[in-house]
Amino acid sequence: MRELSDTQMSQRPGMIELGLGHPDPTLIDADGLRAAAGRAFELFGREVINYGFNRGPGPLRDWLRARLQRIDAPAAPIEPDAIMISGGFSYAFDQLATLLLKPGDVVFAQAPTYHLALRILRDHGVSLRAIPSDADGPRADALAAAIEVCRAEGRRPAMLYAIPTFNNPTGACWSASRRAEVLEIADAAGVLIAEDDVYRELGFDAPAPPSLWSIARLGAVVRLGSFSKSLAAGLRVGWVTADAALIKRLELNGVTDSGGGPNQFAAMIAAAYCMNGDAYDAQLTHLRAAYRARRDALIGAVRAHLPGCAVETPAGGLFAWITLPLGGDGEALRARSEALGVSFLTGARFFADGQGGADAIRLCFALYQPEILTDAVRQIATALRS
Ligand SMILES: Cc1ncc(COP(=O)(O)O)c(C=O)c1O
Repeated sequence: MRELSDTQMSQRPGMIELGLGHPDPTLIDADGLRAAAGRAFELFGREVINYGFNRGPGPLRDWLRARLQRIDAPAAPIEPDAIMISGGFSYAFDQLATLLLKPGDVVFAQAPTYHLALRILRDHGVSLRAIPSDADGPRADALAAAIEVCRAEGRRPAMLYAIPTFNNPTGACWSASRRAEVLEIADAAGVLIAEDDVYRELGFDAPAPPSLWSIARLGAVVRLGSFSKSLAAGLRVGWVTADAALIKRLELNGVTDSGGGPNQFAAMIAAAYCMNGDAYDAQLTHLRAAYRARRDALIGAVRAHLPGCAVETPAGGLFAWITLPLGGDGEALRARSEALGVSFLTGARFFADGQGGADAIRLCFALYQPEILTDAVRQIATALRS
């Protein structure tokens, strides 16, 4: 088998990489996916390797509509024209930005938030505004004030990028009341919410709360889901739920019109996998158990070995957010920890304006066994003491 050095995985030898946000490849159901590839040919014929339907293959869209209806319970049934298959969150978000945003438009982002979504937005020349959070989610008063400022500047308040469920980097979920408040403010101001929902299936203690999309007026929210965390990131398969008009724009844009659905073969494999009895649920049960044990080990070690640091137990997702004791400097701690063989990401990159997080670090608990996570936190504690 070929070395991994020219794939996306880039673990440095001798370094425990708590900075990488990748799922553990050893937990992916490789045999199940290999079998699903064969079954895709049996079920759907040679069309699985031809150009795909712009909106993505029907069997997968139908399966997703039924599943989302069950796990996310929107009040109204999900209509066939309200969903399309995407190339995962990242490609769909870039396409949305291409279609909906112009340079100079203002995009609001909860702080802290997924740093690489901010990079996608920066590629589009928009003006990013951080909306500070409290324990319930992004502060509604801060969003309202930021919209006012943007209007006073003569700019268009175009979009709110949000991760209401198992946030990266904090693992936190917005409260029900904050979901309703933020929705109301954004909708009244004509600000489209782009809801990043990639961790919905990775709740460890209880089912995920209803998405913003499921409780909003049709047209107020576009929700981006993904199989990256629940099945396999290498498939590059996700989905978008939105109003029919936006789905139409996405499916008729130039890229899709030229290339067809973004990932016909992978989407057909996902369809064959998901349509195979309870295979997908069984895999999720397996993932949740493994990640729950890792989360518990990491949080237990942080509480035991990092006194003075603040951490909330994430109820889902792959990350924990640690605030260092007063005056703590994440960058200095990272340099000292790396010298001891443990790496992680520091907080500032998760703030759209770079104005926060200097005293915080993000630890990913996905890639390592509990014992290794415990050892890693001990090393961070040593680095902190020095
Ligand atoms: C919050 C969040 N959104 C999106 C992504 C990327 O999703 P995808 O693989 O579907 O592009 C990640 C990956 O770490 C993430 O943490």
